[in-house]
Formats: sequence, C-alpha cells, structure tokens
Amino acid sequence: MAKILEVSGLTKRFAGLVALDKVNLDIEKGEIISLIGPNGAGKTTVFNCLTGVYKPTGGLINYLGKPLDLKHHVPHLVAKLGIARTFQNIRLFSNMTVIENVMVSSALREKTSFLDIILHVKGFKIREDSIFRKSFELLQFIGLSDKIYHLASNLAYGEQRKLEIARALATAPVLLLLDEPAAGMNAIETKDLITLIRNIRDKGITVFLIEHDMKMVMSISDRVFVLNYGKNIASGVPSQVQKNELVIEAYLGEKV
Ligand SMILES: Nc1ncnc2c1ncn2[C@@H]1O[C@H](COP(=O)(O)OP(=O)(O)OP(=O)(O)O)[C@@H](O)[C@H]1O
Ligand SMILES: [Mg+2]
Repeated sequence: MAKILEVSGLTKRFAGLVALDKVNLDIEKGEIISLIGPNGAGKTTVFNCLTGVYKPTGGLINYLGKPLDLKHHVPHLVAKLGIARTFQNIRLFSNMTVIENVMVSSALREKTSFLDIILHVKGFKIREDSIFRKSFELLQFIGLSDKIYHLASNLAYGEQRKLEIARALATAPVLLLLDEPAAGMNAIETKDLITLIRNIRDKGITVFLIEHDMKMVMSISDRVFVLNYGKNIASGVPSQVQKNELVIEAYLGEKV
C-alpha cells in the first residue's frame, strides 16, 4: 500500500524542553492510525508540526512520497495539500450558524476566498448555491442536517466536535487529523463517532487520530503509535500495543 505520511526523526524543542525527540511514524493510504500517550507526551505537538502551526526543529516529513518544505511550512499551505485537522480545544465561529461554519471552511476547496463568502461579493450567489448544497450534504453525512441554522455556540459539546469534523472535511482532505475527537462525548456519542470515522475512511480519507478513550482506540485503529516524553515507545496493531510493558508502565498501571 502507498504511504501517505512518513515522519522520521521529528524533533521539536521549546526553550529547554524537548517536546518531540526523533519521532518516527508512517501511515498508509486508507488506514485509521491512532497516536496515544500520557498527558504532555507530545501528541498535539506532532499534529502542530505536521500542519505548520510549529516549524519542527529537526526531522523529515514525507507526504504522498515527497518531502514537505519545512522552511515554508504554514497552516494554509498544508491545508491546500490536503491535510485537514480538528483541534483539541474546539475552534468554531461561535456566532455563525452551523452551515455557515462549513461554508466558510469550503472556501479553500472552492477556490473562493473566505472574504468572498463573508462579504457577498459579485458572483457570490451562484457559488453560494453550490457551496450551500455541498455543505448541506456534508452535514447530512455528519448527522447535523437538522441543525443547519443553529448557532454553533448553541450546539451541545459532542455536536460541536462533529461540526469541527465537518469543517475539516469541507476542505476535501486526503489526510484527516483528529485531536481527541471523543473528548467530552458520552458513550452513545462515542459509538456514533466510531461509525462516523469508519465512514470517513470508507470515503477514501486516511484518518490519524489522537485519543485518550482506549476502548475507542483499540476498536477503531489499524495500528497505534505510542509516545511518552516526546519519544516513540511502541507501535503496532492494537493487540500488540495493549500488552506492551513499556506502554502499560507509561500509563502507570492504567488499563490499556
Ligand atoms: N508552545 C509551546 N511552548 C512551550 N511548551 C510547549 C508548547 N506546546 C507544547 N509544549 C509542551 O510540550 C509538551 C508536549 O505537549 P503536547 O500538547 O504535545 O502534549 P499532548 O501529548 O498533546 O498532551 P495532552 O494529552 O495533555 O493533550 C508538554 O510538556 C507541553 O507543555
Ligand atoms: Mg494534546
């Protein structure tokens, strides 16, 4: 299978702290891959380095077989390459409606500027219709089509997480990065989320997720990478990782 992502020797230093220390990982097309590890292990920093929020201190990132230019590594260019993400702390336009949130996010894919959509410039109407339709279809897929005119801030927490995923999907990604998508969700919402992530993968989108819900990680992942103190400590299929002593130790006896 083709490799979508190959990270080697990824290092990120913040002043005196080595947040990532020569991290390696690889993701094949069509996989669901999880990144786990205790709080502060460096998981979100991996996402931030992949998406250009941070410039790595060292290492290589190959995406679709080519090295990313880490000197010009900024979020909007990364998004254009087909890498979309959600954030551990939800980031939505809280005063916009659900569908507006998705529509502005699709600006990237539609070659329409964010401002075009916001300011209703010439030609907006026609584009708006197609953008509206596609955004609505996406919300149907995600399970929020009955709330398109609700303000994002009025959605329940689990729904806001789903809206974030819809916004990421609106950019038509190749690779979707989800940072703790199940955080704050109840058991039913988490079960729905697992189905949703599988459906996303079935659309041909490769999924890379950070998650603390071990039941979810073990049931959904093709492979799991484990970080502790910024270093790789284990990787493999869920059944291997679950019984790895270093992993069990890292979680201080927490049942994995
Ligand atoms: N911008 C920053 N400046 C300084 N230190 C940072 C910065 N971002 C992250 N860190 C540090 O890097 C380490 C890794 O943080 P990171 O957020 O990647 O952890 P995490 O594995 O995502 O943890 P959690 O499970 O709590 O979300 C932590 O010690 C954190 O304090
Ligand atoms: Mg994190």
